[in-house]
Amino acid sequence: MSPMIFDERLAGQLESIYQARDMVRRRQLARDALSAAPGERIIDVGCGPGFFAAELLEQVGADGVVVGIDSSPAMLSVAARRCVGRRNAGFLAADVASLPVRESGFDAALCVQVLEYVPDVAAVLAGLHRVLRPGGRLVVWDVDWATVSWHSGDPARMGRVLAAWDGHLAHPSLPRTLASRLRSAGFADISVAGHTFAATHADPDTFGGSIIPLIEQFVAGRNGISPADASAWSAEQRRLDAEGAFFFGCIQFCFTAIRPLTRPA
Ligand SMILES: C[S@@+](CC[C@H](N)C(=O)[O-])C[C@H]1O[C@@H](n2cnc3c(N)ncnc32)[C@H](O)[C@@H]1O
Repeated sequence: MSPMIFDERLAGQLESIYQARDMVRRRQLARDALSAAPGERIIDVGCGPGFFAAELLEQVGADGVVVGIDSSPAMLSVAARRCVGRRNAGFLAADVASLPVRESGFDAALCVQVLEYVPDVAAVLAGLHRVLRPGGRLVVWDVDWATVSWHSGDPARMGRVLAAWDGHLAHPSLPRTLASRLRSAGFADISVAGHTFAATHADPDTFGGSIIPLIEQFVAGRNGISPADASAWSAEQRRLDAEGAFFFGCIQFCFTAIRPLTRPA
């Protein structure tokens, strides 16, 4: 695995992608699952460019608190800029596997498309369990990248590109094992909802359309894919779109769980 580097360039790209219609829809679904209430303390683990933090601040109001954690200084500076002037927002630089906050200090925790990047998922879940108060709520959202269904006239090249793209993650199919991992970490009332993101246009407002430039950029020079192969792959997608033959679909999974009031005996 050769991981994604969340540097300034990627932070800028994600800030733009996260304004896309599908990303707004995704945040709405995740926030509905979290059900933040006025006055609550929320931790956003792997907060990225801070869109969730800004939206959650509206939900928790002046008496609530939102703390964002991320290891990327570039992401944190975008997030801090987004929430400038909000005295009840805080952003901390840390690895999500060792959360620098006190035990039982939060009513709810959110972790959207982060765990799939982290090698030690158990450490992150143990930390989330520690920082939630007993009865506190957790929402974890990840993509099963094996559910991607993507039309191409060159399925072999598409397969190579998607295999190389899997290399940007520690766990390309994490949702398959998340329920048991959550249970092992001590969470209860675990449930899951699958949400489809499908598109018949390579429109940047859709999840599939928005990730084409990221994939082209990442796979070039990996797994035997030359920069010319990568650009031929994205050019084919633009051509299919122009011909009305574009198709992308994938399933993303939203898990909810609670830290039980008491530990099982
Ligand atoms: C795909 S972005 C998701 C951002 C945000 N959760 C959202 O949905 O808007 C993944 C984020 O996780 C952060 N991240 C990945 N691995 C991390 C780690 N081990 N510790 C802290 N942050 C991490 C990245 O810096 C990036 O901001």
